[in-house]
Amino acid sequence: MRDDKTLGAYNISDLREMALKRVPKGLFEFVDRGTEDEVALRNNRAVFERIRFKPRTLVDVSRRTQEITLFGQKQKMPICIAPTGTAGLMWHEGEIALARAAKDAGIPFTLATGSMTAMERVAEEAGGRLWFQLYMWPDKSMSHKLVERARAAGYEALVVTVDGAVSGNREYNLRNGFTIPFTFTRKNVTDVLMHPRWLFGVLAKYVMTTGMPRYENYPSEIKYKVTARPMGRSQMKNDSLNWEDLKVLRDMWPGTLIVKGIAHPQDAILAADCGADGVVVSNHGGRNLDGSMAPLEALPDVVDAVGKRIQVIVDSGFRRGSDVVKALALGAHAVLIGRATLYGVAAGGYAGATRAITLFREEIDRVMALLGARTVAEHGTELLHFADSAFRRPGSVRADLRLVETARAPAEAQR
Ligand SMILES: Cc1cc2nc3c(=O)[nH]c(=O)nc-3n(C[C@H](O)[C@H](O)[C@H](O)COP(=O)(O)O)c2cc1C
Repeated sequence: MRDDKTLGAYNISDLREMALKRVPKGLFEFVDRGTEDEVALRNNRAVFERIRFKPRTLVDVSRRTQEITLFGQKQKMPICIAPTGTAGLMWHEGEIALARAAKDAGIPFTLATGSMTAMERVAEEAGGRLWFQLYMWPDKSMSHKLVERARAAGYEALVVTVDGAVSGNREYNLRNGFTIPFTFTRKNVTDVLMHPRWLFGVLAKYVMTTGMPRYENYPSEIKYKVTARPMGRSQMKNDSLNWEDLKVLRDMWPGTLIVKGIAHPQDAILAADCGADGVVVSNHGGRNLDGSMAPLEALPDVVDAVGKRIQVIVDSGFRRGSDVVKALALGAHAVLIGRATLYGVAAGGYAGATRAITLFREEIDRVMALLGARTVAEHGTELLHFADSAFRRPGSVRADLRLVETARAPAEAQR
């Protein structure tokens, strides 16, 4: 591996190419692809092109900062790491690598229920601002045990994912034959043998230390009994989950409560009514309901509905700093990053994850300068051009107020 910190990757797409070479195809497709016809996956990216910048000029941006305050705490960048169950398959103990990279960058890391490293170990070995993502089992008491463990391990936020009543239809997983725990088929063994760096650097390391990778957060009564299922078709999903369950979690969890997987503004209101501190507008990176609207399209209505009561985070499809800046200008308080940092960790563990975060930092900084924005909070829709007149704009008071303020006090605004 190169010893310069760029790793030879100058954008997230470069990291994706490196990940593609390193990990078996079946695993790569699990990370990279969407569901069914991948309409949602494609639209998550395409939507960014419908929104363009309308930059201001001759603004003194020499002291610009991308620092934000999220759930009462300052953080250095407006991104957080999304929960991704397979981080630990991209790299040996990839969750720890990602959490360390997040800590060093001063941003939160979300550990997935279905991770390969136990939540207590991530807390001990990485530390930093840790959020725990919860999927519910049909036996809710088992999920509640996880909540208790997350509290005891010092996790700051509970992220309850609500957009997976059943598993998404990921046909390529069935074709590729990758399951957790691993079962061996001729097809996937060939795939693994063709990727020796992954075989020796990831799989063999688990086998020689803790055994075959498995869902380490699962309660012990089922951890060793989980039968192999195609990846993403685990037993966690619960199609009877409802708002009453969220209220129970609110009563149990003293920390920050975030509901992930919101598209409809009415659901955002219900989440706030249940006492959530934040929502993540998300279509799971195009991995669950194909044809669902891009979160960026859903964002303005959600911001209008709850943006003053709770914090609104968004994810799905973010690959560039400019994507992040567009979402913030539309009213998001922060952005979750899923695949981009996973590609990074697959490409080079801690160094690769750090590279992905650094790319976002540098790109956001450059865009802010070229856009004439000194702080993230002062972005508003007045800095955007909507190429598509159908795109819903937020009735963002924030943006309107700022325009008035700037008009009244240009000298003040320059400071
Ligand atoms: C490989 C992979 C595994 C994921 N696992 C989970 C998970 O266990 N829980 C969850 O809430 N979201 C999960 N997600 C969704 C992410 O948290 C996030 O919503 C999505 O990746 C955002 O889109 P992006 O990948 O385009 O950034 C996963 C995403 C990927 C790519």
